[in-house]
Amino acid sequence: MDITFTPEELQQVEMHKAKYPETKAAIMPVLWMAQKKWGWLSEDVMRYVGELLHLPTAHVKGVASFYTMYFKKPMGNYHIQVCTNISCMLRGGEDIYRHVSNKYGIKHNQSTSDGRISLEEVECMGACGGAPMIAVNEVFYENVDINEVEKVLNSLT
Ligand code: FES
Repeated sequence: MDITFTPEELQQVEMHKAKYPETKAAIMPVLWMAQKKWGWLSEDVMRYVGELLHLPTAHVKGVASFYTMYFKKPMGNYHIQVCTNISCMLRGGEDIYRHVSNKYGIKHNQSTSDGRISLEEVECMGACGGAPMIAVNEVFYENVDINEVEKVLNSLT
């Protein structure tokens, strides 16, 4: 696989770099761009990001492994996140998590064998006012119950 950003993407990298006094501060948005492009952060992708930002691969890996939003392995085409933090937990978030887990036979950070679905139990996603909530590929569904979650899941093609 060719691990290279397009010229337009490289321009975006330069824009991120220009926002900060030090180039290395652009690591988070550039890692996010890389994840959006390649789906997850493989060793090669992290090395490439390090080259772009003049950082050792070990530094890039350190940042990528600290933040759970960066995937260190391939995830499903549909990545389902279920919040079980306090507001969501008090309103049924754990039941929703169990439901999704049982439906697909996968647990936290696992994918179905066909690579279609992956599941992640997440901490607060900043949507507590809409608790309980889930997200599918970063689209939020708030104030959901198990029936509504089922509708969302069954609508995934
Ligand atoms: S606790 Fe679930 S979004 Fe904040």
